[in-house]
Amino acid sequence: MEPKKIDWNKIGAVIDKHRDNKWALIPLLQEIQDVCGFIPPDSIEPVAESLHLSPAQVQGVITFYAGFTLKPKGKYVIRVCRGTACHVKGGRGILRLMKRELGLQEGETSPDYQFTLETVACLGACFLAPTMMVNRTYFGKLSPPKVASVLSQYHKDKGTE
Ligand code: FES
Repeated sequence: MEPKKIDWNKIGAVIDKHRDNKWALIPLLQEIQDVCGFIPPDSIEPVAESLHLSPAQVQGVITFYAGFTLKPKGKYVIRVCRGTACHVKGGRGILRLMKRELGLQEGETSPDYQFTLETVACLGACFLAPTMMVNRTYFGKLSPPKVASVLSQYHKDKGTE
């Protein structure tokens, strides 16, 4: 599988919608990321030009906000919490298991673009520790069998969307 194809028509439409409104930079970048799953580096220049900004300014905003990414990610982005509450409840073991099951280190994406593995400082659901998210879905009170069943659910999904 390849990373999601870049739909330049949709990107063009997003850029046109916000043209000349430099205050719209963040929502514009967010919309591009929603369309592509990441911000294609080649879109920086047209975005900058449409908002009368320099490419360096656009690049700076992308780098500043952790939510933006210039690299394609997997269909499923798994975020394992490494915060204190999760740590004391065995979060480290969950991360280790996840790395082994997926064959990925933190920040890596599988070659088939199915999974990206990330860690975060806190997912804001400490009462469910240890926690992780797959895209926008929370999973809490994790144990090794629960992790295995969550992963098998997403492995099964492979290629169905
Ligand atoms: S420390 Fe893990 S959710 Fe807060």
